[in-house]
Amino acid sequence: MPAEIPARVLTLAGSSVQVFADAPTACLAAAGRIAEAVKASLAARGRAVLGLATGATPEPVYARLVALHREGALSFARVSTYNLDEYYPIQPLDPLSYRSYMHWHLFQHVDLAPDHAHVLDGTVPEAFAAEHAAQFDRWIAADGGLDLQLLGIGRNGHIGFNEPSDLSVDDARKLPTRLVPLHPITRTDAAREFGGEDKVIPRALTMGVAPILAARSILVLAFGPRKAEVVAEALRGPVTAEVPASLLQTVPGKVTWLLDEAAAHQLVYDSNLR
Ligand code: PGA
Repeated sequence: MPAEIPARVLTLAGSSVQVFADAPTACLAAAGRIAEAVKASLAARGRAVLGLATGATPEPVYARLVALHREGALSFARVSTYNLDEYYPIQPLDPLSYRSYMHWHLFQHVDLAPDHAHVLDGTVPEAFAAEHAAQFDRWIAADGGLDLQLLGIGRNGHIGFNEPSDLSVDDARKLPTRLVPLHPITRTDAAREFGGEDKVIPRALTMGVAPILAARSILVLAFGPRKAEVVAEALRGPVTAEVPASLLQTVPGKVTWLLDEAAAHQLVYDSNLR
């Protein structure tokens, strides 16, 4: 059996949920799905547009994409990328910036044109942050929209840095790219990278919920027991802005969740579909 075959496939809340034996296997599958999406978009319209994520979860996905590139199986020459988020303010050369992360894990290793790799700019003056964010959304639209958006999920259910809120579902679905304060759980979870919770940059630019939901396909990765509860809330709970990932239920047929057994535990446990 090829390594990328999931142990279990469920359909929940209009999403395909694929559970793998472990996170490395799920990451191989994710890279395979991204490579297929690139090839399909190139065949259909001569270019591909990817929405990319940072954080610990997708690191092995980028390693596999780089390996595919080195094997000659994947070219980024006609690909454009848009990253989900960036701390604000931050210098691109700061090792903690998501621009640095992308350079380190993907951009420096592949044939992606530098001017096709878009990361929100943590150096834009604050008075222009709203215009910069609006321009980011216009660029995505001008590029024909995202063919595939790669997502992680925060322990508080955030997607990108779209944090939990008391907005109505309709208003939350319309959120554009913008400057946001980080949620306390996000700051706690970033404390290790920053060397303490008080050192975490407390704001960020994030791609909005609207452009994420508008992607033609969405791949969500979640691994480990720390994500089990929020994965179950996002897939089995009500659609609510308090759990931003639950808003993915409003775009049925577009979303694939790739989980390891630990992240799926609560889901599968509660389910009759084991
Ligand atoms: P992580 O972050 O991959 O570092 O767990 C996921 C997220 O917050 O979206």
